[in-house]
Amino acid sequence: MGSYKRLLLFVKPYGFTLAFGLICMIVAAAAYLIVPWLIKDVVNKVLQAKDLATLNLIVIAILAVFLVRGFATYGQTYTMQYVGQRVIIDLRETLFKHLQKLDQAYFDRRQTGVIMSNLTNDVGALQSAIVDNLIAMITEGVTLIGSLVSMIVLDWRLTLVTLIIVPVVLGIINIFGKRLRLAGHDVQGRIADITALLQETVSGMRIVRSFARENYEVKRFENVNQENFQAVMKATRLTSLLSPMVEFSAAIAVAVILWYGGYSVVKGMISAGALIAFLIYAINLSNPVKRLSQVYGNIQKAMAAGDRVFAILDTQPTVKEKADAITLPEVKGRVKFDHVSFSYDGEKNALHEMDLDIPAGSMTAIVGPSGAGKTTIANLIPRFYDVTGGTLYVDDYDVRDVTFASLRGQIGVVPQETVLFNASVKQNILYGRLDASDEEVYAAAKAANALEFIERMPLGMETIIGERGNALSGGQRQRISIARAILKDPKILILDEATSALDTESEKLVQEALDRLLKNRTAIVIAHRLSTIKDADRIVVLQQGRIEEIGTHEELMQHGGTYKHLYSIQFASKG
Ligand SMILES: Nc1ncnc2c1ncn2[C@@H]1O[C@H](COP(=O)(O)OP(=O)(O)O)[C@@H](O)[C@H]1O
Ligand SMILES: [Mg+2]
Repeated sequence: MGSYKRLLLFVKPYGFTLAFGLICMIVAAAAYLIVPWLIKDVVNKVLQAKDLATLNLIVIAILAVFLVRGFATYGQTYTMQYVGQRVIIDLRETLFKHLQKLDQAYFDRRQTGVIMSNLTNDVGALQSAIVDNLIAMITEGVTLIGSLVSMIVLDWRLTLVTLIIVPVVLGIINIFGKRLRLAGHDVQGRIADITALLQETVSGMRIVRSFARENYEVKRFENVNQENFQAVMKATRLTSLLSPMVEFSAAIAVAVILWYGGYSVVKGMISAGALIAFLIYAINLSNPVKRLSQVYGNIQKAMAAGDRVFAILDTQPTVKEKADAITLPEVKGRVKFDHVSFSYDGEKNALHEMDLDIPAGSMTAIVGPSGAGKTTIANLIPRFYDVTGGTLYVDDYDVRDVTFASLRGQIGVVPQETVLFNASVKQNILYGRLDASDEEVYAAAKAANALEFIERMPLGMETIIGERGNALSGGQRQRISIARAILKDPKILILDEATSALDTESEKLVQEALDRLLKNRTAIVIAHRLSTIKDADRIVVLQQGRIEEIGTHEELMQHGGTYKHLYSIQFASKG
C-alpha cells in the first residue's frame, strides 16, 4: 500500500477536481437507487389505487432522475479522466526527469524495452487504477450501501432472511467450485504422466527393445491411461453437477425469499409495491459485490505496476554531483589518470591502478585487444562512471569535484555507434551546441565532409532522418556526428573506434573530417586500424586493464613488443 499512498501524492494537486468527480459519482449512483422506490409507488398507488395523477408525477420523476443521472455520469467520467490523465502526465514527466539523472550503470543493467514498458504500460496501469477502479469503488460502494439501507427500510425481517440465505448459497457454490478446481489440477497431472511416459519410452525405445520389455511398457501405459480416464470422469461429474447445483441453490434462495415476502404481503406486513422494490434491490445486489471483488484484484495488479514505477524513482544515481561542486573553468585539456582502478561489478577490475598523463593539446592513441579496457577509459573521463580507486584529473581538477555540465561541456565523444535523433539533419548537428548560428552549422558540416551529401538530400539540412538515421550510410551518420562534435568545439575529444565500422571508401572521408576535428585539442583516439594513429604523440598499448607499452610509433616499433607485432600483422594483411 506504500505505492498507493505515493500515488495519492500525485493526485493531491487535483483534489478539488477529484472532489467534484466524487460528488458526481455519488449523485449518479444515488439517482439509480431512487428508481425502485418509484416503482413501488407505481405498484401501490397507480396499479392498486388507480391514481392517474400520481402516474404522471412518477413518469416525470423518472425522467428527471435519469436527466440528473446523465449529467452526473458525464461529470464523473470527464473529471475522473481529467484527473487520471493529469496524474499520468505528471508521473511520466517525473520519471523521465529522474531517468536523465540516473547513471550509465543503471542503463547498462537494464533492457531498453523494460524501461519503456515502465513508462508506458505500468504508468497506464496506474491510470486505470485511478480512473476505472476509483469510479467502480465509489459507484458500487454507494450502490451496495444504498441498496442495503433501502432494503432494511422496506422490510428489515426480509432483509435479514436474505442476508442469511444468500451467503449460505454462495458458500455452497464456492466449496463446489474449489473441488472442481482441484479435480482440474488432477487431470492436468495425469496428462503430464502420460506425456512423460511417452517421452521416456519413445526416446528409450532401443533400451526397451534390448531388454525385450515391450509388454511391460504397454502395461505401464495402460495404467496411466486408465488413471487419466478416471481423473477426467471425476472432473466431468463435478462440472456437470455444478451448473444444476448452482441453479437449484439459487432457486432455493429465491423460493425462501419469495415465500417469506409473499407471506408478508398476504399478512399485510408489507405492501406489494414494497416487495417488488425489495426484490429489485436484492437481485441487483450481486453486481456491486462482483465488481468490488474485481476492483480489489485490479488494484493489486495496478499496485504491482506502481511498485515498479516507484522503484525507478527510488533509484539513486551512484555517480552524483557534489552539493558543493564547482564550475570547471575553461580547461587547457590535460587529462591525468593517477593510480586509477575501475570495476563495473565490484569483483573484476577493468582497469588496474593505471597511471597516464596526457598533456593538453596532444594526441594519445589507445590500442589493445577487445576487452582490454579502452572504452572504460573513455567512459571515465566524462564521468559516465566514477573511478573505484585513484583519481582522475582534468587540468588540476578531480573530476568528482566539478559539475557535470561544466565537465561534459568541454569533452566531446564520438563513439562507434552514432545515435542520431528523429529530427532534421540541422537539429541533429545543433545538438552539439543549441545556440549555434546557421553559418556555424554549415561550416561544421563542411569541415566534417558532410555538406556535400546533405545538400544532395531532398530537403537538405531540413531533411528528417529516422530514429536510427535509417536513410544514411554508416559513414554519413558518422560525419553528421563529427559535425556535431566540431560545433561543440570541446577542449578534450575522445574517439572510440569511430571508424572501425566503416568501409574503406567512407573511412577516407571520415578520417579527413576527424583529422580536422582533432586539431588544437587534447585527443584520445581509440583505434583498431593502426595506420590511422601512426602520427599520434603517444601510443598506449593496453592489455587486460594495464598499460603494457607506451611511446611513439617509432619507439614502439623499435621496442619490438606487442605493438610491433600487431602492426606487422595489419600491415601484412593490407599489403
Ligand atoms: N557495462 C559493463 N558491465 C560490466 N562489465 C563491463 C561493462 N562494460 C565492459 N565491461 C567489462 O570490462 C572490461 C573492459 O571492457 P571495455 O572497456 O569495453 O573494453 P574494450 O573497449 O577495450 O573492448 C571487459 O572485461 C568487459 O567485459
Ligand atoms: Mg570498446
